[in-house]
Amino acid sequence: MTDNSPTPQSSSAAETGTDVVARNQGHDIPGLPPHRPRQTDIDPRAAKRAERQVALMFLASALMTVLFVIAFVQIPTTDTWPVPFFNATINASNTALGVTFGLAIFFIGAGAIQWAKKLMPDKEVVQLRHPLKSTQQERDEAAEVFWDGADESGFGQRKIIRRSLLLAMGLFPIPLVVMLRDLAPGPLDLGVLKETLWEEGSRIVTDPLERPVRPADVPIGGVVSAMPANLTEVQHEEGNLNARAKAAIILVRMAPEDIQSQQGEGWDYQGILAFSKICTHVGCPIALYQQRTHHLLCPCHQSTFDLSDSGNVVFGPAARALPQLPITVDEEGFLIARSDFDQPVGPSFWERDR
Ligand code: FES
Repeated sequence: MTDNSPTPQSSSAAETGTDVVARNQGHDIPGLPPHRPRQTDIDPRAAKRAERQVALMFLASALMTVLFVIAFVQIPTTDTWPVPFFNATINASNTALGVTFGLAIFFIGAGAIQWAKKLMPDKEVVQLRHPLKSTQQERDEAAEVFWDGADESGFGQRKIIRRSLLLAMGLFPIPLVVMLRDLAPGPLDLGVLKETLWEEGSRIVTDPLERPVRPADVPIGGVVSAMPANLTEVQHEEGNLNARAKAAIILVRMAPEDIQSQQGEGWDYQGILAFSKICTHVGCPIALYQQRTHHLLCPCHQSTFDLSDSGNVVFGPAARALPQLPITVDEEGFLIARSDFDQPVGPSFWERDR
C-alpha cells in the first residue's frame, strides 16, 4: 500500500536538508502533490493483467534470443533480403541478428519498466545526505531496505514474473557465447582464405584502371597496385568484394642484385616482385613503400615488411611474411601470374596449418 505520511525520519530530513536552506532563502516549498493510487493499486484484476503483460514481455525477450541463435546458425552471411519501396537489398544475416538481439534487449527493458510503473510500490522516499563512508548500522539498514524492496516488488510472490524474468535473463547471454564461434577456427572454411582468383596465366592489370601491365610500366623503385584481369568477370557476382580484397597485390621493381631472397625460386620477373597487398597482421591494405630500404609499411599498426627479403617482417605485430605471387610474362609481353599464392593471404588469427 502507498503511504505518503512523512515518517519521523523524513520530517527530520526535510528540516535539516534542502527545505531549511530554501526557506532561509525565501523560496516557497510546494511539498509533495497528493498521492493518486494507480489502477493496479485498487483493482486486483488490473494488477493481474499488468503481471501478465510483464511476463509476456519477458517471454518475448526469451523468444527473440532463441530466434537470434536460429538466425545465427541458419542464415548464410551472404544472403540478402530486398528492401520494400527501395531498389536495394540488405544483408539478411546482419539484419536478422540485429533485429532479434535488439528486441531481446528491448523486451527485457520494457518489461522491467512496466513492472516498476504498475506493480512495484508507489511512494516517495526521502534520503538524508550523509558522509560517504557508511557505518555498519547504515549498511545493515541498506541491506534491510534492499530485502524490503525485494519483498515489496513481489519477486518472491509473483511466480509467473519471476520465472519468466529468470528465463529471459538466463537465455540472454547465449548470443554472446554463440557469437564466439566466429572467433574460432572450428568450421571456418579455410579454402576461402587459401584460394584467390589468381591462377596460372592470370593477366595482371592495374587497380582500378584495369590496364594490362608490361614490365616496362614498372620502373625501378616504382610501385603499382594491381589485381587479376579475371576479377572483372566476377564483378557482379556474390562475394566479389571478398575476391577483390583477397586478390589485391602490389608490384614493385628493384635492381635484381638488390633482391636478397624470394619465397620461391625465380618468382620475380627482371626484378619485378608481386606481393599480397593484405597485411598479415589484421588485414589492412598496405601500400606505403620505401624505395631506398625496399620496406613496405602497414599504416594500421606499423608492421614493416622487407620486400627484398621474401617480404619478411622486420618490425611490428605481423607474425608472418607477406605472401608472394610468382609472376612471368605471356607471349604478348604482359605480366601474368604463374600460379595462385602458395599460402593463404591476410591475417593469421586462424590456424594456417589445419
Ligand atoms: S594490420 Fe597491418 S600492422 Fe596491423
